[in-house]
Amino acid sequence: MNFELLSVRNLSVAFGDVQVTDNVCFNISSGEIFALMGESGCGKSVTAMAIPKLLPQPSAKIVSGEIILEGKNLLELPSKALYEIRGKKIGCVFQEPMQALNPVVSIGTQLLEAVRFMPKEKRLKRIKELLTKAEFKDPERILKSYPHEMSGGMLQRIVICIALAPKPSLVIADEPTTALDANIQTAVMDILKSMCKSENAAMLLITHNAHLAAKYADRIAVMYAGQIAETGKTSEVFNTPKHPYTKALLKVVPAKGKTLADLKPIPGSVLSPKDFDKGCRFRFRCEFVKGECDKLGYGVWGMGRMRIGVLVFYDS
Ligand SMILES: Nc1ncnc2c1ncn2[C@@H]1O[C@H](COP(=O)(O)OP(=O)(O)OP(=O)(O)O)[C@@H](O)[C@H]1O
Ligand SMILES: [Mg+2]
Repeated sequence: MNFELLSVRNLSVAFGDVQVTDNVCFNISSGEIFALMGESGCGKSVTAMAIPKLLPQPSAKIVSGEIILEGKNLLELPSKALYEIRGKKIGCVFQEPMQALNPVVSIGTQLLEAVRFMPKEKRLKRIKELLTKAEFKDPERILKSYPHEMSGGMLQRIVICIALAPKPSLVIADEPTTALDANIQTAVMDILKSMCKSENAAMLLITHNAHLAAKYADRIAVMYAGQIAETGKTSEVFNTPKHPYTKALLKVVPAKGKTLADLKPIPGSVLSPKDFDKGCRFRFRCEFVKGECDKLGYGVWGMGRMRIGVLVFYDS
């Protein structure tokens, strides 16, 4: 079944008086891998953490929007119902596995905590099944181990087991392999993908790595300066990028047949949220910039749907 699982609509988040994301919209279907890709500071993590309402409090505020998971607006749920949804429906995998685990509690106890919603007699069987899927050869030994006895890749595989233990319908993976050695990144991503597929969990993959998004995602949203610039099937976004930011981003990505001279870094850096104004936020770095861009955004070229004062949103 491939129904719409998550719908994020017009989500805007502020820290104090400064709004950092602006009318973010995307949908994720059941079992799909959806990547949110963009440079550092563009609002990927803030968007992801708003979904289970895990933004830092009291500084962060959801200014507008809806987050509909399986038909329920999470932003309107009472805290008890939201706690249950976080435990059962949404699993999270973050960059640093050590921060997700308690160093003085055995792996077995931490895994059992993740399946606390299941009937007691089924819990041990479930966590051994997950450890096997995560390619641990000796689950019994792993259950008795402590986090300091494991490598970064093993720890992240444990965190993946914890995230998937309660059979969530959505896994939020925020830079899940960025902290790992390059040579084990692919192995861990392969395990994360195959476990999500076998458990029928969708994945929101947050990454600044275009190779990772291209290899693992079914669809991609490209984010820039707090806004979604472009959304589409992975092959469409990579083969026929529509937005000037996506085009610029892909010029930085090494690929077969490209030489060092072909790689063109985007000049400057992402605009700070304090400097967001009515104009197009990419105009300071855009090779197609025109005089009108400080008033009108990308609509001046009539490319896609025009929204005055914000990035034009391309959705294919
Ligand atoms: N706790 C906070 N207080 C104030 N501003 C914050 C806070 N967390 C994030 N921001 C700001 O919100 C904006 C978006 O940050 P976010 O962490 O979502 O970026 P990101 O796309 O995940 O970047 P990275 O790839 O570096 O993780 C940035 O301008 C950041 O400075
Ligand atoms: Mg982040």
